[in-house]
Amino acid sequence: MAILKIAKLGHPVLIKKTNDIINLDEINLKKTVFDMSETMLDANGIGLAAPQIHLTYRMFIYRNPDIEDEEKINISVLINPRIEKLSDEMEDDWEGCLSLPDMSGLVRRYKKIKYSGLDLNGKNISGEVEGLHARVIQHEFDHLNGVLYTSRLADKRAFGFSEEIEKFWKKNDENAPK
Ligand code: NI
Repeated sequence: MAILKIAKLGHPVLIKKTNDIINLDEINLKKTVFDMSETMLDANGIGLAAPQIHLTYRMFIYRNPDIEDEEKINISVLINPRIEKLSDEMEDDWEGCLSLPDMSGLVRRYKKIKYSGLDLNGKNISGEVEGLHARVIQHEFDHLNGVLYTSRLADKRAFGFSEEIEKFWKKNDENAPK
């Protein structure tokens, strides 16, 4: 396994077109997923999409908040994903991204979505999820379309260094600049 270099905001690979993986055997998918997992955990992330490690495949991994607890890490893989909203209901929450280290933004996402795609063995998988699980999938899916969370801010001002966001936006809610 290896820790890979993560592309940072401004690198063109983050806004490049990505393609479905037609033949899963064509690329060393298992090794790529293991390396991505190691890279994500090393960087303390909860998701990582292929473009973030300079690959233009439609594939991402993420830690599954519905299964995880303090002792168990669960990493899911979604290949050639499709997503659709299950209602128009949206919610705002703070997000970060390994391609924008040390920064946070308040992002508006659909609350409930349906996803489908392939797992690491090429098997069809799908599910209906909400909350953080739905948020992570939407964030990673966006990466495959060259979209970063900064394009989906609930409030253009609600973006900055995580340290300052913690200090001024998340605490003392009454005084938060909302
Ligand atoms: Ni990201």
